[in-house]
Amino acid sequence: MSVLPDRPSDGHPGPGSPTLELRGVNKSFGAVQVLHDVHLTVYPGQVTALVGDNGAGKSTLIKAIAGIHPVDSGEVVFEGRRVHLHGPRDAARLGIEVVYQDLALADNLDVVQNMFLGRERKRGVVLDEASMEQAARDTLTKLSVRTLKSVRQLVSSLSGGQRQTVAIAKAVLWESKLVILDEPTAALGVAQTRQVLDLVRRLADTGHAVIFISHNMVDVFEVADRVAALYLGRIAADVPVDQVDRAQVVELITAGRSGDLGIEPTVAEAGV
Ligand SMILES: Nc1ncnc2c1ncn2[C@@H]1O[C@H](COP(=O)(O)OP(=O)(O)OP(=O)(O)O)[C@@H](O)[C@H]1O
Ligand SMILES: [Mg+2]
Repeated sequence: MSVLPDRPSDGHPGPGSPTLELRGVNKSFGAVQVLHDVHLTVYPGQVTALVGDNGAGKSTLIKAIAGIHPVDSGEVVFEGRRVHLHGPRDAARLGIEVVYQDLALADNLDVVQNMFLGRERKRGVVLDEASMEQAARDTLTKLSVRTLKSVRQLVSSLSGGQRQTVAIAKAVLWESKLVILDEPTAALGVAQTRQVLDLVRRLADTGHAVIFISHNMVDVFEVADRVAALYLGRIAADVPVDQVDRAQVVELITAGRSGDLGIEPTVAEAGV
C-alpha cells in the first residue's frame, strides 16, 4: 500500500466532521465505467442509507471503500485525510469494517471464535479464551444484544437475524469507525428485521458511522439519517432523510431525478 497518514493526534475528528468523504470517484471494469464522479459524505453517529436499483453500483462503491476494488480516480478522505486503499487490510487498519451479505461466518465455530477469527488473542502460545469470551460478551452487551443464549453456541445453530447480529458485533469489536452493511435485512423475517434495524440504529448511536445498503424503503426511512441514491453509477442525491419522502427516493432510484433533486436531465435521459 502507499503511505497512509497517521491518525490525527487526538484520535478524533471534530464533532460534525465527516468520517468518510468520496470526491469525484470513478471506477471502471475494463471498458465499462461503473462509478461516475461519485461524491458521498458519511458522518459519525449517523446511518447513511445507500440505495439504488440492481446494477446501480452500490456493491462496487462499498468494495472501493473497503479497498477491494481500488478507485481509478478521485479522492477518498477518511477523518479529514486523503487515503489510498489498496486492499482490505488498508481499510481495516483505518477502522472500516464491511458486513457482507453472505456474512462470511464459519458455521462450525462458535460465536466467540467467529468474532475473533484471524485475530485471536493469545497468552504465550495458547489462546486466551477467557479474555476473548469476555470481550465478545461485553461487545454484545454494549449493543444490547440479548437474544443469544450463549457466546459458546455454534453459529450453525443461530437464526438468520442472530447471525447478522454476530457479524455486526464482530465489526464493532474491532473498534471500527465506519461499518458498512450490505442488505443486512434482505433475507430476514419481520421480527429478525426489527432486531437488526435496532442494532443498526444502536451502532450509530454509539458513535459509529454506518452505511446501510437496502432496497426496502420502509427500512430506509425507519433507520436512516441520510439517504444517498445511486443511479447508473452516479449519485442522484445525498441528503438528510427528512428532506425527501418515499416517493421521491423511489423516483431518484428509478429515474435519477425527482423535482429539484437528481442528476442533470440530459445525463439522466441519455441513461449513461
Ligand atoms: N468485477 C466486475 N467486473 C465487471 N463488471 C462488474 C464487476 N462488478 C460489478 N460489475 C458491473 O458493475 C455494475 C454495478 O454492479 P454492482 O454489483 O455494484 O451493483 P449493485 O448496485 O450492487 O446491484 P445489486 O442491487 O443487484 O446488488 C453492474 O453492471 C455490474 O455488471
Ligand atoms: Mg450489490
